[in-house]
Amino acid sequence: RTRYTGLIERYRDRLPIKDDTRIISLGEGNTPLIRLANIPRELGREVDIYVKFEGLNPTGSFKDRGMTMAVTKAVEEGSKAIICASTGNTSAAAAAYAARAGITAFVLIPDGKIALGKLAQAMMHGATVIQIKGNFDEGMQLVKEVAGEAPVTIVNSINPYRLQGQKTAAFEIVEALGRAPDYHCLPVGNAGNISAYWMGYSEYWRDGLTNRRPVMCGYQASGAAPFLRGHPVENPETVATAIRIGNPQSWDLAVNAKEESGGWFDEFSDADILAAQKLLARKEGVFCEPASAISVAGALNDIRHGRIPEGSTVVCTLTGHGLKDPDTAIKQSEPVLTVDATLDAVKGAILD
Ligand code: F0G
Repeated sequence: RTRYTGLIERYRDRLPIKDDTRIISLGEGNTPLIRLANIPRELGREVDIYVKFEGLNPTGSFKDRGMTMAVTKAVEEGSKAIICASTGNTSAAAAAYAARAGITAFVLIPDGKIALGKLAQAMMHGATVIQIKGNFDEGMQLVKEVAGEAPVTIVNSINPYRLQGQKTAAFEIVEALGRAPDYHCLPVGNAGNISAYWMGYSEYWRDGLTNRRPVMCGYQASGAAPFLRGHPVENPETVATAIRIGNPQSWDLAVNAKEESGGWFDEFSDADILAAQKLLARKEGVFCEPASAISVAGALNDIRHGRIPEGSTVVCTLTGHGLKDPDTAIKQSEPVLTVDATLDAVKGAILD
């Protein structure tokens, strides 16, 4: 009998953890790799598409993988407070893991541009929520400055332990498929996650646990696409608030992952992003947040245009749960029916 107790215990010998380290875990990782059943059939192409549903982590996003490591190491080093800038998910994870550890979390969020579920999480877990009159990139800059002048540990992905934790998602995929996929598609915001996956795949490949590494495909919202423009973007805008980022911190690592793997970056409109989110929800029963859906928008587009050839195995990371952003979901759905509380009225609604 083995109770799953989180990714640090699971991958202890591949992570920088000492034998006597107190591990701060909420049982993150070990998320399902779901094979899409209906969308590929309707597409009419012979491709195996899997989604790695990271929305099923304890706080509802992949950030928990990095946060278990970052907070464990912060506590090991004697830190009493952590800080991050966030478009929402990092702040939710930081708040939860800080609560678990018994330390303080400060989170800087952009004014009015964070999904409601994420805000609720940070507040409920007792973080000090500092809303700045600015965007994520400005928050990131402020966090770097304030950490130089106050006793706080930065838990954004510039903290190297974050990527160490996040690389374990690649390990899980290799173990589930018996090898790395041919293509790995994912959203790119601050560019930590694409870098972490590439680290994870490369580590297993180096150690002979997979005979290949995937082509890495990173997708950005058109209004927040610095990698497509070739330079930082001043005023990023997108409905996918999680990836509303103009100046990614892991720029070089992400470009390296793309180039070493023979991959590419591409961009999609907000309409494309929302259409993919709805498609997944309607056709596969999988509800992810808008930013996550860009991985599927990108994969389907690349399959349609033959950039991803038939016969390929494709994995898309669904980075966060759809419940994070109820407003966007409700806004793009059919209105609910309201009827009288009578048998006739309900029958009428069903039989219409
Ligand atoms: N998808 C979701 C749901 C995210 O929350 C993020 C990043 C990304 C994708 C992009 O990942 O930054 O590693 O390229 N969210 C950060 C946050 C910025 O503050 O929660 P990335």
